[in-house]
Amino acid sequence: MEHWSLEVEDGVALLTVDRPQALNALNLEVIDELFLAVGRVREDESVRALVITGAGDRAFVAGADIAEMKDMTADEARRFSEHGQEVLASIENLPFPTIAAVNGYALGGGCELALACDIRIASETAKFAQPETGLGIIPGFGGTVRLPRVVGHARAAHMILTGETLSAQDALACGLVNMVVPASELLSTARSLAQRIASRSKVALAAARKCLACGREAPGQGGYRIESEQFARCFETPHPRLGMEAFLAKKKPEFD
Ligand code: COA
Repeated sequence: MEHWSLEVEDGVALLTVDRPQALNALNLEVIDELFLAVGRVREDESVRALVITGAGDRAFVAGADIAEMKDMTADEARRFSEHGQEVLASIENLPFPTIAAVNGYALGGGCELALACDIRIASETAKFAQPETGLGIIPGFGGTVRLPRVVGHARAAHMILTGETLSAQDALACGLVNMVVPASELLSTARSLAQRIASRSKVALAAARKCLACGREAPGQGGYRIESEQFARCFETPHPRLGMEAFLAKKKPEFD
């Protein structure tokens, strides 16, 4: 991979996009490499959590590549959007938790990439926006669906229709990010949160993520049914006994 680096340490995979000349913008090559990298992370049985970040201190990802998009035909644009959605869905569908460590601009496709992760941690210098309508386009990598789920319809409509840029603190206030930390602490915070999550039951984490995802798609009765199924599925593994016996013995559980 030319534009992504992948390191795995203590069960945590760190995936970093590095295309500084274009503020880590997502061209087709970068998107294809991301797909490949996510596939590798999925195959690696030692991985329990994934952190995604951008190289440098300016940008997480400054969006889809505008130079590449400008001459697209409608057919090419549809395929580009569908492919971007597929790649971000592959992150959302990983069987373990994902964290976006947003180190700078998260614009357009960058904001959408962060939205495909379970948890977003921002450096104090991060900036968020969906500026597409100012370019004559709209978010195409799932932003119109995921952003309202995270920040609510009114705030999402305001961001998408005005292209407003949110500071890290604004993003925290509307729930777009889970926490804001000084830039120098971003990666260590993301890594230690990932490690804390990774020490929990992978069976329970996968079941919880499935329910959270299904609850969004099937709110109400469908969501409750899936929750019961996943709750029961945990009991098909040794993890519930392991976790609860450890609690009752006042010990820390050691999940495999
Ligand atoms: N696609 C392609 N190239 C991009 C890019 C993008 N989304 N975002 C930044 N770049 C490139 C710039 O064209 C510039 O290239 P150049 O040096 O060859 O001219 C380089 O990255 C640095 O960006 P620049 O605009 O000079 O930096 P800046 O500090 O003045 O502004 C931003 C930073 C992020 C505010 C500005 O680059 C920007 O608005 N980018 C586009 C954001 C956007 O609309 N994203 C959504 C796309 S759907």
